[in-house]
Amino acid sequence: MNIDYKSEINRLKEKLDVTVVAHYYQRDEVFEMGDITGDSLELARRCNDDKNPWVVFCGVGFMGQSVKVIAPHKRVLMPKIACCAMARMMDGVYFEESVQYMVDKGIDRDNILPITYINSDASVKAKVGAMGGFVCTSSNAFAIISKGLESGKKILFVPDRCLGQNFAIQMGLKSCVIGIDDCDPKEADIICFNGFCSVHQLFTVDDIEFYREKYPEIKIAVHPECDPAVVLASDFSGSTSQLIKYVAQLDPDQKVAVGTEYNLVNRMRKENTFVLSSTKPECPTMNETTLEDLYLTLKSIEDDKPINEIIVEPEVAKYANMALQRMLDLK
Ligand code: 13P
Ligand code: SF4
Repeated sequence: MNIDYKSEINRLKEKLDVTVVAHYYQRDEVFEMGDITGDSLELARRCNDDKNPWVVFCGVGFMGQSVKVIAPHKRVLMPKIACCAMARMMDGVYFEESVQYMVDKGIDRDNILPITYINSDASVKAKVGAMGGFVCTSSNAFAIISKGLESGKKILFVPDRCLGQNFAIQMGLKSCVIGIDDCDPKEADIICFNGFCSVHQLFTVDDIEFYREKYPEIKIAVHPECDPAVVLASDFSGSTSQLIKYVAQLDPDQKVAVGTEYNLVNRMRKENTFVLSSTKPECPTMNETTLEDLYLTLKSIEDDKPINEIIVEPEVAKYANMALQRMLDLK
């Protein structure tokens, strides 16, 4: 039997008390089904405010997990529980080792304020929350790091080295990366774990030079998960929502090359917009979710046999929520 997934999904959305959430990096046909769409921060905030008891989250694992932590009364299902490759680079053990590294270099544990990028597992957020730290996203990292610095403590930034380094540069701060550059935490304001996004590592300064040579007037806009050398050579850096706004306000004749995930760039204005890479920058885990997966997940609610439900252990949720709430409280 052939199923028309789109009309079935629409029927189930009408019938059930469910909100379908989709990140910008989702495949077009899945993204179009989203009742709530946005960047990581917008999705976390809007899911928290949403009234429906069921959330079906089309994104990567840490996103659905964050909704469950912030709003534990909700039932959160994910059509695919696909784990962001960067989030997978850090766990509680690596976090403790990073803290210990700073302690071994002569910094008191009480003098460390951890900040974790939202692209991390709830267990890492819980460790951060228990130490009085914050979660941040690419759209509020400047504000969160500024807030963290008010404590007068050294910032331990996990798991994305690039985000930590890029905001340190933007704020005129000194950063170092654990395990490289003879990192001396005593000399730095922000000490970064050496994690990264393999998709955003695809964009290089050579790509920027290629486009600038071809179109001298071109603008370059990139996500701050790109390497600092790439961000420094670009005209604009921002979260997925900020990139969309930046491109939308450009003159229609203004050429722009964008360094972020393919599905999003491909959905931007068609004329004069280029992908800043000769390799198609697709996020494998974001692309795992299909229309069929979304349909099956909604159908499982209708059949009263929910699949792929996100469960977070209560003790982990308690401390992870502290770190997330400290972020959400900062307007
Ligand atoms: P945004 O918070 O900008 O949506 O980014 C999420 C992400 O995973 C980027 O790779
Ligand atoms: Fe994770 Fe990178 Fe994919 Fe974003 S693009 S979800 S950071 S692997």
